[in-house]
Amino acid sequence: MTATLYRGRLLSFRRAPQSLDDHDSYLYERDGALLVENGVIVASGAFDTVKAAAAEDVEIIDHRPHLILPGLIDTHVHFPQMQVIGSYAGGLLEWLNTYTFPEECRFVETAHAERIATHFFDEFFRNGTTTAVAYLSVHKASADALFAENLRRGSLMIAGKVMMDRNAPQGLLDTAETGYDETRQVIADWHGKGRNHVAITPRFAITSTPAQMEACQALAREFPDLHIQTHLSENHAEIDYTCSLYPDAIDYTDVYARYGLLGKKTLLGHAIHLSDREADAISEAGAVAVHCPTSNLFLGSGLFPMRRYQKREKPLRIAVATDIGGGTSYSMLKTLDEAYKIQQLLGERLNPLESFHLMTRGNAEALSLEERIGTLDAGTDADFIVLNASATPAMALKMEAVKSLAEELFLLQTLGDDRSVVETYVAGKAMKPAS
Ligand code: GUN
Ligand code: ZN
Repeated sequence: MTATLYRGRLLSFRRAPQSLDDHDSYLYERDGALLVENGVIVASGAFDTVKAAAAEDVEIIDHRPHLILPGLIDTHVHFPQMQVIGSYAGGLLEWLNTYTFPEECRFVETAHAERIATHFFDEFFRNGTTTAVAYLSVHKASADALFAENLRRGSLMIAGKVMMDRNAPQGLLDTAETGYDETRQVIADWHGKGRNHVAITPRFAITSTPAQMEACQALAREFPDLHIQTHLSENHAEIDYTCSLYPDAIDYTDVYARYGLLGKKTLLGHAIHLSDREADAISEAGAVAVHCPTSNLFLGSGLFPMRRYQKREKPLRIAVATDIGGGTSYSMLKTLDEAYKIQQLLGERLNPLESFHLMTRGNAEALSLEERIGTLDAGTDADFIVLNASATPAMALKMEAVKSLAEELFLLQTLGDDRSVVETYVAGKAMKPAS
């Protein structure tokens, strides 16, 4: 494959910014370029330097004056919930029982799962998200549909068939044994095929018996490199119900800990109402608390205490995510806009450099994948996006008043959405669908 050179303003993070003045935390190249070959960034930096390293007749795609950033990463979404978004419910458990579980039953049908899979990738790529970590339905058909579609799309995707053997409709239940067997089958069929990764996915403690938790523990031992994803401490009624189902556990977090499910590759969706003991246990294990702001607001679940978690003696690793379809937007820009507002309500600040770090490198680090995605570094996968901060009349008007990169990012976060995403490149291929 021949190389292509993409010209624009490059922005990529080295580490988490400590303040708006922390200019060392990122790389910003006003007239920058990426040289891409065979799906990989082979050079990145000032246009003149990168151009000089390329072949004389290299094709140049000029995205000036737009920004070029790493593809956005969404660390918690539900594939079978695209038609659940915006369901009117009092809170998590009512929302699950009334809308979500019935909808997920439909994914036993291959044709339905395949149809939704095409929309899934279209919607994420339209919004500049190039990697998502997805919960599938309980049915193997949902895994086959999503992973097969991704072989055509080429993104780095992490997903797992949910394991659930109680407290849900019959059509959504596996057993400790079939959940184990089918997860193993999904791993054998899909893990490492293309850029597909399989995650071990006990949905949450309420829908898994102790026997199923043991099966998850066995999977985690057999496949220690795989991610594990589950939900934790999202809603007070959920916490009380969980503790009643696991009376021997010290608390909700301890349910997962006692089955060996807390580790560096564990992603804990929501994790809003943690006690100090729970936060210590999660920190010691190196597991990740995944903040899902639009979902937490929509379902009234609570305000994620990001700063408290970060500033504690034993800090938590934190990621951000849409949680489609408890979440209300596919856009990571909109997601961080709501994260900002949650911190405002808590009397804290979330600056735009931190937000853009979180949705790129921060989330990549949370997935232990920063060597492959989340930056524009040479040698990493060519997943990158082009953003236009003047994409709508309202944005263009506000842009007239913008004086710095940080202000431009804040504008993108506050007023931006899929319309600000000019292009989404996945492994070097332009993939944003026509709207
Ligand atoms: N807890 C268990 N399942 C779910 C889900 O599908 N969405 C959310 N937001 N929380 C959950
Ligand atoms: Zn979720």
